Amino acid sequence: MHKRVAVIGAGPSGLAQLRAFQSAASQGADIPEVICFEKQSNWGGLWNYDWRTGVDENGEPNHASMYRYLWSNGPKEGLEFADYSFEEHFGRQIASYPPRAVLFDYIEGRVAKADVRKWIRFSTAVRWVNYDPESAKFTVTVHDYNADSSYSEDFDHVVVASGHFSTPNVPYYKGFESFNGRILHAHDFRDAREFVNKDLLILGTSYSAEDIGSQCWKYGCKSITVAHRTAPMGFEWPDNWQEVPALLKVDGKTAYFKDGSQKEVDAIILCTGYRHHFPFLPDDLRLKTTNRLATSKLYKGVAWIDNPKVFYLGMQDQWFTFNMFDAQAWWARDVMMGKIALPADKAEMSADVEERITREEVSADGKYCIRYQGDYVQELIDETDYPSFDVDGACEAFYQWKQHKSDAIMEFRNNAFKSVITGTMAPVHHTPWKDALDDTLEVYLQN
Ligand SMILES: Cc1cc2nc3c(=O)[nH]c(=O)nc-3n(C[C@H](O)[C@H](O)[C@H](O)COP(=O)(O)OP(=O)(O)OC[C@H]3O[C@@H](n4cnc5c(N)ncnc54)[C@H](O)[C@@H]3O)c2cc1C
Ligand SMILES: NC(=O)c1ccc[n+]([C@@H]2O[C@H](COP(=O)([O-])OP(=O)(O)OC[C@H]3O[C@@H](n4cnc5c(N)ncnc54)[C@H](OP(=O)(O)O)[C@@H]3O)[C@@H](O)[C@H]2O)c1
Repeated sequence: MHKRVAVIGAGPSGLAQLRAFQSAASQGADIPEVICFEKQSNWGGLWNYDWRTGVDENGEPNHASMYRYLWSNGPKEGLEFADYSFEEHFGRQIASYPPRAVLFDYIEGRVAKADVRKWIRFSTAVRWVNYDPESAKFTVTVHDYNADSSYSEDFDHVVVASGHFSTPNVPYYKGFESFNGRILHAHDFRDAREFVNKDLLILGTSYSAEDIGSQCWKYGCKSITVAHRTAPMGFEWPDNWQEVPALLKVDGKTAYFKDGSQKEVDAIILCTGYRHHFPFLPDDLRLKTTNRLATSKLYKGVAWIDNPKVFYLGMQDQWFTFNMFDAQAWWARDVMMGKIALPADKAEMSADVEERITREEVSADGKYCIRYQGDYVQELIDETDYPSFDVDGACEAFYQWKQHKSDAIMEFRNNAFKSVITGTMAPVHHTPWKDALDDTLEVYLQN
């Protein structure tokens, strides 16, 4: 096969694409030439921790949004690779909520075994992608920071796997410009110890707000006030944690809220989400969406309907992560290798997109959304040779996880789940999450 495929990004999604092709090659298939461009000097995407904020070592916008002491926020049994279990990697079953370093090790283990690192050009940022309808080729222009030079190459397909949790959504509230303290977005949060004994205001009510607040509580901040624009999170929080209505303005160090209350705070952390941002794509190839389960213009959530030689991986809001990226990558691989045929008619692809959007909008209930995404993962894996796994079991693990959170928000990570790949039960972790201040891989694995 003389096709060439460009993969943009070597995070979990891009690595899934490399593993998908390598898996086909290992079964004797003639695969395209695959080249992955990664702007960081290592793989792992968000899981590759960087202490820097602002720009990276090359002056590129820093990709990293993960922080020290981050543990998986869902049970690992919901994200386990169907072709590479935790037991295969660690030689035994491990506890259910691994810290970042442990998950990085797991992600790396699969692709190191598959020997696909040689397909990746590191420290190489994609600058622009152009499609020429006459040659039916994409020209990808990149900057190689090792050589400090730019160059272009032609490809038959482009797989966009550059993530969507790295360009912060930064709202303005009156008085921010003269606030006498630090204002930062979650993207720039690194170490909860910075906020020991501080009074914190958090804006937003989703995972970043919940987890960054919990980290700061765990490592000893003085108080947490979370202002909600729409609705409070409503968990049973510790005594020094309160939820208040929307922020109106700040004056000096005082924050004023919609219900007339006010609070003196030392720092404001904007947990206000991220933007899908693809500065390297022209308008006719560029996905425009909010963080939701059904994305516009992606047939099967993957193929760009205006030019289905372009694929996007992992662009949905995420209950399922690594195994969903795998399902998408295996599916995209089979389209690129001619094993799956796309509808000849664009209207048919648009109808698929519309159907997914309509079905998503039926309910915002968490359980409904989990099932919706579980069904999506099942749909894709049924169409490829990605190893089948117990998707229902993974949904069930997510339902239980939600229940554990409502039961006790600072204790949900102390629970253990059964693997949906190997059927083995995880051990209960040796230390309750709130007391486990050392989250290195060595300490976590001491079960
Ligand atoms: C704070 C935080 C915590 C999270 N915690 C969890 C969790 O506990 N469990 C879970 O399952 N998921 C979690 N996630 C979700 C996370 O999105 C996925 O786990 C996963 O990292 C997504 O993989 P990805 O490859 O799609 O994107 P990313 O991990 O973002 O990787 C994208 C890659 O593309 C590269 N790239 C971007 N632009 C360019 C360019 N122009 N040229 C070349 N390379 C480029 C980046 O450097 C990066 O390596 C979390 C997300 C955030 C923000
Ligand atoms: N491992 C972990 O523990 C962990 C930790 C953090 C994040 N994550 C992951 O990171 C991803 C992103 O999560 P996220 O919480 O950053 O983003 P998100 O889920 O998109 O949520 C964005 C939040 O910002 C609020 N918001 C947006 N604009 C606002 C404004 N102008 N004023 C006030 N509030 C505003 C939204 O409120 P409305 O509801 O009012 O719109 C919403 O609560 C998720 O996939 C999550 O799983 C994981």
